Amino acid sequence: METVILYLDRNENLYGPAPQCYEVLKNLGVEELSMYSRDFTRGVKSKLSERLAVELGIPEKQILLSEGSEDMLKQVVHCYLGPGEKMLCPAQSWWYYQSVASEVAGETVTYSLKEGRDSFYYDVDELIGLYKKESPRVVLIASPNNPTGNSFPDEDLKKLTEAFRESIVVLDEAYWGFSESSNEHIAESVSRYRNLLVLRTFSKYYALAGARIAYAAVGTSFSKLTKFSSRYLGYNRISEELALAALDSRQYYSDIAKAMLADRQRYYDFFDRQEGFHCYRSNANFILVKIPATLKLPMQKFLAARAIAVKFFAEKEFEHCVRITLGTVEHNRRLIDALGEFLTTKTARGISA
Ligand SMILES: Cc1ncc(COP(=O)(O)O)c(C=O)c1O
Repeated sequence: METVILYLDRNENLYGPAPQCYEVLKNLGVEELSMYSRDFTRGVKSKLSERLAVELGIPEKQILLSEGSEDMLKQVVHCYLGPGEKMLCPAQSWWYYQSVASEVAGETVTYSLKEGRDSFYYDVDELIGLYKKESPRVVLIASPNNPTGNSFPDEDLKKLTEAFRESIVVLDEAYWGFSESSNEHIAESVSRYRNLLVLRTFSKYYALAGARIAYAAVGTSFSKLTKFSSRYLGYNRISEELALAALDSRQYYSDIAKAMLADRQRYYDFFDRQEGFHCYRSNANFILVKIPATLKLPMQKFLAARAIAVKFFAEKEFEHCVRITLGTVEHNRRLIDALGEFLTTKTARGISA
C-alpha cells in the first residue's frame, strides 16, 4: 500500500475549503466553463473585485486581481523595479522575494528582523534608517512573516508609510486571518498612502491554494500596475466563484482559525516543556521552532519514517530550526505524539543529555 505523507511543511490549509466551494464546483455550467465574463460591461474587473471593494471599503479600481500572490509580486517587481534599483526585504523571509528581484536584475538589500524573547519583531527605526541610506525603489514587508510568524504592528505602518513616500511599499499579508482578522487598516492605509500595496491571497486562510487566486488593495498611484495587470478577457471564472463562495462562508473559516489557535497553543505548551527547544510565538498557520542542533538529523529521519513532513532549513540562519504548518486537530495530535515518542528514544535522550 502506498504511504500517505502528512505534509506539514508547505503552509497550506489542510482543513480544505468551505463546503460552499465544493457546491460551486458541482454546479459549474457552460457559462463559467465556456464563456468569457461580461463583468467589464459594468466598468469593473469582475464580480470578485466588486465584492472585495465592498468588503474592504475602498473603490473597485483599487483592487487588482492575480493568479496567487506570487503572480502579483512578480507583476509589481517587474513593473517598478529596474535593473540596478534596490528592493528592501527582510533577511529572514520567503526566498521568492529575492528571486523575483533578480529576474529584473534588481539589487536586494536585506534588513534583519530582531529576535525578541518570545518572537521575532520588526525594528521600524532601523528600517527607516536603512531606507534613508539605500533609497530603495521597492520595500517589502511581510505580515505575518514567513517563516518567523511575527506581524508588522498596525501602529507602525503609519510611521513607516510616512517615512517611505518615495518608494513602492508592498505589505504581504498572505497569512492574514489566523490571529487578527480585521480589515480596517486597509481602507485607512491605502487612502492615506498612495504608494502602498497590500497583498492578500485566497491560498492560506481560505484554503484555496490550488485555485491560484489573490488580490492587491492599492493606493492611488498604481496606474502603471493597474494597466499591467488588467485582463481584457477577464480572469479565471471558476477561481473567482470559489473565492466568492469562500467569502460567503465566514463561520466555517472563523471556526478553523479558532481550532488552529488552540492547536498553536498546544504546540507552544509541548515545546516549552522540552529542554533545548524554543518555539517562537506566531500569528500565522505555522510555527518556527529552534531545536537542539544535534537532534536535527535524527528527528528528520524519525519523522520521515512516520511519513510526516515538516520544513527543515538549509539556510544558515534557520539551520537548527524547523517550521511546522498547523494541520487539522488530528494532524497536529499525530505530530505531537510522534515528537513525544521521538524524544523518549535512546538516541534523542542520549544526544540531548
Ligand atoms: C509570505 C508568502 N507570501 C506569498 C506566498 C504565495 O502564496 P500564493 O501565491 O499561493 O498566493 C507565500 C507562499 O507560501 C508566502 O509564504
